[in-house]
Amino acid sequence: MLIHLSSWPEIDARLNAGQPLSRTVVVPIGSNEQHGPTGLLGTDWLCPEIIAHAAEQADETLTVAPTFNIGMAQHHLAFAGTISLRPSTFMAAITDWVSSLSRHGFERIYFLNGHGGNVATIEATFSEIYAEWSFVEEQPPFVLKLRNWWDLPGVHGLCSSIFPTGHGSHATPSEIAVTQAAYPDRIKTADYSPRIAPNGPIRDALDYRARFPDGRIGSDPAQASPEKGQRIIDAAVPALLKDVADFAGEVRP
Ligand code: NI
Repeated sequence: MLIHLSSWPEIDARLNAGQPLSRTVVVPIGSNEQHGPTGLLGTDWLCPEIIAHAAEQADETLTVAPTFNIGMAQHHLAFAGTISLRPSTFMAAITDWVSSLSRHGFERIYFLNGHGGNVATIEATFSEIYAEWSFVEEQPPFVLKLRNWWDLPGVHGLCSSIFPTGHGSHATPSEIAVTQAAYPDRIKTADYSPRIAPNGPIRDALDYRARFPDGRIGSDPAQASPEKGQRIIDAAVPALLKDVADFAGEVRP
């Protein structure tokens, strides 16, 4: 069930259905930022959304929230189309999403993340949220989990085997392949120079653009194809369903 394509009575009924996943919700979360000369700006929120929506197609008892599609992208702001939040804004927004979902009765909130740059701030947000309960010696009515889609069991190994060289860490062929599988009419091409982009540290936006002129880090996205993307999606979907089921079934002390 996708929350944004459901009515409130349907969500109400789902919460009270008494099924294993009734009170669990998956929130795709990512970033809208440049992904090199050929990658879609939405790549980092599209990948978790594509995987979560495919999982919902495979198992209708999975509930998926709207995609949280703007994140930590200040270092990409020298490239057109990038939209970023400050860490403080991001943390405040995640906190309000959690409060909203918890208010309705969701007890397990699973963030499926598509942007490495979000990880530290999401983890810090979880600590801020838990602190509110810890200081007053109460147990929160929910548990939070963060999982990067490429860290789903089996997915990282598959990506490494498909792309043994030139995977890199930004505008990677694996994430671009996933978007190509879902949006084959939006595939773009370019003459990459150099073929494999340089590596280096990430700092502010102008420093980033000077180090990585076309936006890529360490990657050769020319290796991407819709077929390879579909293989990654087909591996990620059962891994996500199992990971969410395990999370939903965890017994709280
Ligand atoms: Ni990305």
